[in-house]
Amino acid sequence: MGYGLLKGKRGIISGALDENSIAWKVALKAKEEGAIFTLTNAPIAMRLGEINKLAEICEAEIIPADATSEADIENLFTKSMEVLGGKLDFVLHSIGMSPNIRKGKEYGDLNYDWFKQSVDISALSFHRFLQTSEKLDAMNEWGSIVALSYIAAQRTFAFYTDMADVKALLESIARSYGYRYGKLKKVRVNTISQSPTMTRAGSGIGSFGTFYEYAEKNSPLGNASADSCADYVISLFSDLTRMVTMQNLFHDGGFSMTGVSREILEMMLPEDQK
Ligand SMILES: NC(=O)c1ccc[n+]([C@@H]2O[C@H](COP(=O)([O-])OP(=O)(O)OC[C@H]3O[C@@H](n4cnc5c(N)ncnc54)[C@H](O)[C@@H]3O)[C@@H](O)[C@H]2O)c1
Repeated sequence: MGYGLLKGKRGIISGALDENSIAWKVALKAKEEGAIFTLTNAPIAMRLGEINKLAEICEAEIIPADATSEADIENLFTKSMEVLGGKLDFVLHSIGMSPNIRKGKEYGDLNYDWFKQSVDISALSFHRFLQTSEKLDAMNEWGSIVALSYIAAQRTFAFYTDMADVKALLESIARSYGYRYGKLKKVRVNTISQSPTMTRAGSGIGSFGTFYEYAEKNSPLGNASADSCADYVISLFSDLTRMVTMQNLFHDGGFSMTGVSREILEMMLPEDQK
């Protein structure tokens, strides 16, 4: 049972690959909260076919778009307004991919072509979403645009290699465009910095399982699930957070503010002191 938080609102949700995807959970909750929206993903991701199930449940049209293509993104926004019958109130950018991480490259041995791809897919695409929506005047006033980030943008996590720099850029774009779009149209732009989450993108990262356990033990509330991340996204799409913009908002069970937890410390103690 929803609260009607998104009743009458229209939007775009990107990045739902399978039922573990954060975007998948956002779509289910957006539907429950009364929104109408389109779904999008890279044409290559369509081959998995999973998104069709989600589209059916949400009664949503799928508009394929490669996040690195300006033409695709323009088509995505134009078609979404057509299909949904008006300007948009919310957009979710839930897109991330690093060929360097996929191929296990160390930070001191990055392939620069792949690095450029990571930047293009995972950060410039956010600017592309924002710039395209501004040019097409696609957003209603007080609309909300959210992208997903990770704490490695701000503190070093060795396994995150080039994506750390890419997420730093993503967060910076949210601030820069948030200022611009706020002034122009009162549109909010934020990033949510999410806990490690068991998804396709997450589990592609080296030692992810071990780190997931570490973060779980170093967060007073434990890791935030994809489901609870979706709740947070919905709150940012709703009218209850109208004055929140240009922020990077941690959604991590307290991980970012914890130095070291008792559990982790106890694991480090010699056996005779445990
Ligand atoms: N899983 C985690 O631990 C975690 C933590 C913090 C932030 N995030 C971020 O959350 C977001 C969603 O990731 P997820 O964890 O749900 O994983 P996911 O693998 O389910 O989603 C990533 C999505 O990006 C899409 N994508 C990749 N290349 C694309 C392209 N060229 N054009 C369009 N779409 C493309 C994929 O098809 C996929 O749907 C990403 O930005 C990710 O970095 C994830």
